[in-house]
Amino acid sequence: KTAAIVGCPFMGGQGKPGVDKGPIHLVEAGLTDQLTELGWKVKFDGHHQFESIDAASDPPIGILKNPRLVSRVCESVSKVVGGHAKAGELPVTLGGDHSLAMGTISGTLSAHPDACVIWIDAHADINTPETTDSGNIHGMPVSFLLGIGSKIPEFAWVKPLLKAERLVYIGLRDVDAGEKRILRENKIKAFSMHEVDKYGIGKVVEMALDHVNPKRALPIHLSFDVDALDPTVTPSTGTPVRGGLTFREGHYICEAIYETGLLVALDIMEVNPSLADPEGVKATVAVGCSLARAALGETLL
Ligand code: ARG
Ligand code: MN
Ligand code: MN
Ligand code: MN
Repeated sequence: KTAAIVGCPFMGGQGKPGVDKGPIHLVEAGLTDQLTELGWKVKFDGHHQFESIDAASDPPIGILKNPRLVSRVCESVSKVVGGHAKAGELPVTLGGDHSLAMGTISGTLSAHPDACVIWIDAHADINTPETTDSGNIHGMPVSFLLGIGSKIPEFAWVKPLLKAERLVYIGLRDVDAGEKRILRENKIKAFSMHEVDKYGIGKVVEMALDHVNPKRALPIHLSFDVDALDPTVTPSTGTPVRGGLTFREGHYICEAIYETGLLVALDIMEVNPSLADPEGVKATVAVGCSLARAALGETLL
């Protein structure tokens, strides 16, 4: 079994500098050695180098910011992740902002067309060009993958390969009004923090899997935004929202998905090492690493 680390020092999907340093901190904290110790052969040949597009050649489209840059970066991430997945390797993508998931999930679906997506986040990241208030594309990747909202020629490479019934959310608590409507109209299953409180995380993960993967037979792409966890656990992230998952709830999700034996791709997103005091940064980076370890088989006993 081989894991391929895809470090993506990218921040173009949102406005706060520093998230592009997330992957560097995760690797420097020892992630590759940690995964090796779990028995994985780990491939890491340096962080992904992205072409740059100067702001002057990348004016907003509508209110979408850095659209051409985000599109090109995600297209290249899609090829890299798809290549690893087709080679039978498990891509572990380190962000960088969550717009990158447009690339990672496109790549996964190119190799595993029947894969389901489990999206762990405070946010639904399902705004369309019509509904976004911020214009930040990290709040939009899911709508592009589903093919909802107006089509932007610059994103023509993104194929609407994700079906609404193959997507499930856990951890939501800051969903924009337009996003709530999209979730409802497309009958997308979402377990907010309300359901986590009501049923407990064990039952929620079971219900989430029952929805997207009833026979426990489909490959799973796990896209984990560290802001799903409570800001007391992962303070160093760009859009923290109080009332989040505990440390254990976050790790439980990863452990339970590992136990299915169906994980084919993992994203650890939105670690921004410039947004907390040194202690908070260290904690956030450490949790990013331990979530990845849990998803790749680390157990408590
Ligand atoms: N809903 C807000 C927006 O669309 C926030 C999105 C936050 N996304 C994230 N990947 N942290 O701008
Ligand atoms: Mn988020
Ligand atoms: Mn919001
Ligand atoms: Mn997100």
